[in-house]
Amino acid sequence: MSEVGRSGRGPGWPFRVVWLTEVDSTNRYVLDAAGAGEPEGLVVVADHQSAGRGRLGRTWEAEPGSSLLLSVLLRPRRTIDELHLCTAAVALAMVGAVRDVAGFSAVLKWPNDLLADGRKLAGVLAEVDIGSSGIVRAVVAGIGVNVTENAFPPELASMATACEVIAGRPIGRRRLLAAFLVHLGDRLDTPDPELVAEYRAQLATIGEAVRVDRPAGPIEGIAVDVDDLGGLVVETEAGSTVTISAGDVVHLRPR
Ligand code: BTN
Repeated sequence: MSEVGRSGRGPGWPFRVVWLTEVDSTNRYVLDAAGAGEPEGLVVVADHQSAGRGRLGRTWEAEPGSSLLLSVLLRPRRTIDELHLCTAAVALAMVGAVRDVAGFSAVLKWPNDLLADGRKLAGVLAEVDIGSSGIVRAVVAGIGVNVTENAFPPELASMATACEVIAGRPIGRRRLLAAFLVHLGDRLDTPDPELVAEYRAQLATIGEAVRVDRPAGPIEGIAVDVDDLGGLVVETEAGSTVTISAGDVVHLRPR
């Protein structure tokens, strides 16, 4: 494992925030900036995205002003195998921010969804710029957090929730952003074993019966752990242990 995470960024590391009224996708905007040589630490926030991107080629839709939609540019000295630790840091930072600002504890569904009351509160999408030599040039970590009740389309109402729904009071997106950046600076400086320990402790997926839809096909079993790189360890009914680095998890008996 590399030395990454120990770059001296620390809590409150000086991120540079650009807040846009509208953009197609904050991830697209920051990826383009990364390609043009922007240093790490750029944070782009948007009130509205016209073509927000979700995981696995999905779209991410939210009413204008209803969500905290942002992307962070990182240039970690990590290999491609270690990138899950970057997105785990982003998800954990938002768990901390939600706790500080909205006063409740969200949990994580592997790989990086935030859940509250068993419903989706936020999702993380990381996109990577990899050079021809296989070196990671940039990671753009995007996160969308449902803040107000109208944050998600009606067809997702049974699966989604929002900070204000759980907290029962108004939650300011700027305060949530400020708290998130303090936690993120801290997590980017956390040694990997501590980061993985925190990730493991926050993962509601561990102990659950799951189906994981993987590129290699679906697999069912009990999620028993995460490995040192954040991969999900699943024990199948046949008794084999499989470690999964990419996929979509369904909790078969959600808590
Ligand atoms: C998921 O599918 O759960 C991940 C969704 C990530 C959405 C965020 S919103 C801000 C950033 N910009 C995008 O286009 N997507 C991410």
